[in-house]
Amino acid sequence: MSVTPDLSGQTAVVTGASSGIGRAIAERLGACGAHVILSGRTEATMRQSVDAITRAGGRATVKVSDVRDPAAMAHLAESALELDGRLDIFVNNAGVAWLAPIIDGDVEHWRAMLETNVLALLVGCQAAIRAMRSTGNPGRIINVSSVAAQDRASGVYGATKHAVNVITQTLREELADDSIQLCSIMPGLVATNIGRNHNPAVIEGIVAVSGVDTTFVPGEHLANEVLEKGQAALSDFMMSPEDIADAVAYVVGLPASVNITDLALRPPKGFDL
Ligand SMILES: NC(=O)c1ccc[n+]([C@@H]2O[C@H](COP(=O)([O-])OP(=O)(O)OC[C@H]3O[C@@H](n4cnc5c(N)ncnc54)[C@H](OP(=O)(O)O)[C@@H]3O)[C@@H](O)[C@H]2O)c1
Repeated sequence: MSVTPDLSGQTAVVTGASSGIGRAIAERLGACGAHVILSGRTEATMRQSVDAITRAGGRATVKVSDVRDPAAMAHLAESALELDGRLDIFVNNAGVAWLAPIIDGDVEHWRAMLETNVLALLVGCQAAIRAMRSTGNPGRIINVSSVAAQDRASGVYGATKHAVNVITQTLREELADDSIQLCSIMPGLVATNIGRNHNPAVIEGIVAVSGVDTTFVPGEHLANEVLEKGQAALSDFMMSPEDIADAVAYVVGLPASVNITDLALRPPKGFDL
């Protein structure tokens, strides 16, 4: 399935667009006709996505930036106004995860998760709302949360995703009189590079079923081929980034009279990292 609403004339920002879910969302919004501003730290993969979008007749722009820098994060929404005079869609997707028990946790991993998954998202929401209000156009903000937000014992990573849902719901109430809609998308397991800091045995298992002759180095990215083949072999347990892009395309393609506020997506069977 490929959900492709007509987003011609719209401008979208996607954070964490250099890999995984964000990259798939950016490419999908571009394929739907939106001008996509891709934000991330890894320029090479974003350039590849820009090439794919422009080859198909679309328009895309790369902004290399670190979401942990609040000024750079706020500037993403402003850059949409500078380039197009509008901002229709803002996707707060960038995220990191370490799943260690709290008693064994590392304060720098907690800081990275809180600053990337929560603080950057707050700054992104605030900047996007200010930009959308300044144009008077309706806008949509998609916050990428996780099914970890539905589990009360999901550790520090899960706590950041609970925070995402609380922030999203609070802003929805603050924006009751605005034409800006917010949605919290909660994926279950998706085959991306989010697992690079997880239990190496699980990731090595995914590499093994992919059939690709490669070695997983903890903390480093896996090749797309490994993720795609691993996902295909384990599709009962892991979704693909395109499945989440389908959900985002569906939400942003709805008429303004419909707002999907929370959307959880799970593979058919559980898979515990
Ligand atoms: N995969 C899953 O199973 C799953 C499930 C539920 C929710 N999620 C959520 O989905 C979102 C996307 O993750 P993913 O699964 O697609 O993982 P991923 O492949 O590791 O992608 C994460 C993205 O976030 C970006 N990012 C991280 N820190 C950043 C920073 N400081 N500044 C700028 N960009 C930064 C990365 O960019 P660079 O590499 O260029 O730095 C990358 O583009 C996250 O919020 C994650 O929590 C994932």
